[in-house]
Amino acid sequence: MAAETIDGKGIAALVRAEVGVAAQRLTAAGQRPGLTVVLVGEDPASQVYVRNKDRAADRAGFRVETRKLPAQTPQAELLALVAELNADEAVHGILVQLPLPGGLDADAVVRAIDPAKDVDGLHPDNVAALWMGTPGHRPCTPSGCVELLDRTGIDIAGRNAVVIGRSLLVGKPLAALLLARNATVTIAHSRTADLAGLARGADILVAAVGRAELVRGNWIKPGAAVLDVGINRGADGSLVGDVAFDEARERAAAITPVPGGVGPMTIAMLLRNTAAAAARRAG
Ligand code: GUN
Repeated sequence: MAAETIDGKGIAALVRAEVGVAAQRLTAAGQRPGLTVVLVGEDPASQVYVRNKDRAADRAGFRVETRKLPAQTPQAELLALVAELNADEAVHGILVQLPLPGGLDADAVVRAIDPAKDVDGLHPDNVAALWMGTPGHRPCTPSGCVELLDRTGIDIAGRNAVVIGRSLLVGKPLAALLLARNATVTIAHSRTADLAGLARGADILVAAVGRAELVRGNWIKPGAAVLDVGINRGADGSLVGDVAFDEARERAAAITPVPGGVGPMTIAMLLRNTAAAAARRAG
């Protein structure tokens, strides 16, 4: 039987609507959620992402601004902008779009962001809070993955989760979130021996490596939940995930499509983090 397709687009719209209600309440209380996105350079994919964030924040009733800087911006100038935004009471969330152009030190920029405004959850204080299980902003794409599982009614506790990919943005934080929910978690990567065999033991399989259709249908444990974080260009220019969708859906119980699966959740969770930061300020 073919898998249930997890409607990430619909679930993200639901989350955005909930955040919009919270934003109305916060605005009425004098704490309208404010998000500032910093875009350095002209990377076309980043420009699309930033535009989408901008539009979604606006529709949710946030105050949103995008600060665009040229690719040649010196590090000191970028750090000065972060300091200005840290000090600005109307700004609850700061997102510096990554990757930064060559010559800029992304690590130092992320460290400069006030952790309370780091709605990406990438500041070392927030990374530590994630692994320690203390309050802090959680990274958006990984928390979007957990939200999809929860809203689809997929149990996490006690199940075997295999996360393929070990990036700071997705693989590592998602492993921490699933562990916090009492999954038994394995992080796999390009040097993992017998990746297919490992994947076949997964009740929850997440692919976040950026290799088109790496995960084949016969890697899927029958009845598994499959989350595909990959966004790749297929040979014909279409968007394809890290999972061979048509094969995988024959064995999985539930699977996210690409596009329309995990992708839309990232912005929804970004808005939720920003609203939460505004709510904390409201007290
Ligand atoms: N570039 C691609 N994804 C992301 C993200 O989630 N946050 C930031 N800051 N940059 C990104």
